[in-house]
Amino acid sequence: MSTYNPFENMEQKVEAAFEGLNVLSSSYVPEYFPHREQQIESMVKALGVILKNNRASNLILYGKSGTGKTSVTKYITNMLREATSNKVRVIYINCQVYDSPYSIMVTIVNSITDDVNSQIPSLGWPLDKIYQEFLNRMNGSNKYVLVVLDEIDKLVEKNGGDSLYVILKAVDEELIGSRISIIGITNYTSFAEKLDARVRSRLNQESIIFQPYDATQLRDILAERLKSLNGKGVIEDSAINLCAAIAAREHGDARKAIDLMRISIEMAIREHSDKVTEREVYRARNKFELDVLHESVRSLPLHTKIVLLSVVLTQRVANRPIYTGEVYENYRRICEELSMQALTSRRVSDLLADLDDIGLIVSLNKSLGRAGRSRFLRVPDHLDLIEEYVLEDEQLSTFKGVKLSKQQRLRGITEDDERDLRDLLNARIDRHQG
Ligand SMILES: Nc1ncnc2c1ncn2[C@@H]1O[C@H](COP(=O)(O)OP(=O)(O)OP(=O)(O)O)[C@@H](O)[C@H]1O
Ligand SMILES: [Mg+2]
Repeated sequence: MSTYNPFENMEQKVEAAFEGLNVLSSSYVPEYFPHREQQIESMVKALGVILKNNRASNLILYGKSGTGKTSVTKYITNMLREATSNKVRVIYINCQVYDSPYSIMVTIVNSITDDVNSQIPSLGWPLDKIYQEFLNRMNGSNKYVLVVLDEIDKLVEKNGGDSLYVILKAVDEELIGSRISIIGITNYTSFAEKLDARVRSRLNQESIIFQPYDATQLRDILAERLKSLNGKGVIEDSAINLCAAIAAREHGDARKAIDLMRISIEMAIREHSDKVTEREVYRARNKFELDVLHESVRSLPLHTKIVLLSVVLTQRVANRPIYTGEVYENYRRICEELSMQALTSRRVSDLLADLDDIGLIVSLNKSLGRAGRSRFLRVPDHLDLIEEYVLEDEQLSTFKGVKLSKQQRLRGITEDDERDLRDLLNARIDRHQG
C-alpha cells in the first residue's frame, strides 16, 4: 500500500511557495505603515500626553476608504497600551454595528471592567442609570479609557447629531477626572461641519487627515506586505505595479491593492502556475468587479431589483437608448406578473436615480425638440449577469418572463438624436470607468 498521492503533492508544491498568505488577509495588522509616518506622529503626539497623566484631546480621523485609518488606529492604541503597561483601556466600537447612542453607552460601560459577571443588559436600563453606572465604574478603575468610534458618520446619519451629545456628556471631563478621550473615524471630510457647534467643539479638538495613496506609495505598501511571503520571488514586479496602479485609480485604496494581489496569487495557486504576472492581476480585477457587481445587486431592496430587471429586459430588446416611461410600463407588467403592488412612477424615478448613484445604470436628462424633456438610460455592461443576480431573490423565484410593452422610439426623436444620446451615455460610462 502506498502513502504517496501524486495529487497531494501537486497542490502542496504551489501552496508552499505562498505560505504566510495571511499577511494579505483583511484582519492582519501590519507593524509598519509606509507613507503614514506623519499621521502616526500626530497621533502619538496627541495621545502621548496620557503617559504624563494628562488627558488627551478628542480626535477625528478623516480619509477615504482604504487609507489606513482603522488599522493605524488599532496599531497605535495597541502600542500605547504596551507603553503604559496596560494602564489604557481601548474600547473599539464600529458604529455600523452599534448604531444607537444607547447601545454604544452600554458597550462602553460593559467594557470598562473585565468582570463578565457584571455586564449590564443591552436593553431596559434608563440612560440615567447607565450614566451612573458608568461613573461608578470609572471611579472604581484607575485606567485611562480611549473610545474609538469607527464609522462615526453612520451613527449621526441614523440618529442625528444629538446622539453624539449623549456620549460626549458621559465623557465630560469635569465629571470623571479627565480619564477618557474619544477617537472618531470617518470617510467624510465635511463630517464635523454638519455637527452643531457644541458637539463639534467638543469632539473635534484635533483632526488628522489620511490622504489617498498614489501608485508609487501603494507599490511600497504592497512590497512591504509581501516581504515576509515565502514565494515573493515568483511575483513579478510588473504585477505589483499593476495592482498599485489599478488601486490608485480607485481613490488610492490600499485595501483594494492588497485584495487584488491576494486574489491574483490565489488564482495562480489554483491554476498551478508558478508565477504571478500581469495576466493574473487583470483576471483578478475582473473577478473582483463581478463580485462587487453581485454584492451590489444582491443588496438592493426588492422593488429596486424589479426596476433594474425592467431596465435590463427593455434595453435587451430595444437596441437604442431607452427612456423612463417604457421602463416604468415594463416594471408595472413585471409586478403584475408577480402579483405585487407596483410603486408609483414617481417612486420608480427615485429608484432609477438610486441605481444611477450606485453605478448600475447611467442616465441622462435631456430635452429633445418635440419630445420634450426625458430621462434616457442604459445599463453599461453585464446584462445577463445582472438579470441572473436579480432573479436570485427568492421573492422573484416565480418570475417566468413577461410580455414587454410594444417597443418604439419616443415620438419626435430622430435617428440622429438617438446617435447623440448613445454617444452621451457612452461618454458617461467611460467617465465612470476612467
Ligand atoms: N500605509 C499602509 N501600510 C500597510 N498597510 C496599509 C497601509 N494603509 C492601509 N493598509 C492596509 O490596507 C487595508 C485597509 O486599511 P484600513 O482598514 O485601515 O482602511 P480605512 O481607512 O479604515 O478604510 P475604511 O474607511 O474603508 O474603513 C488594511 O489591510 C491595512 O492594513
Ligand atoms: Mg476603517
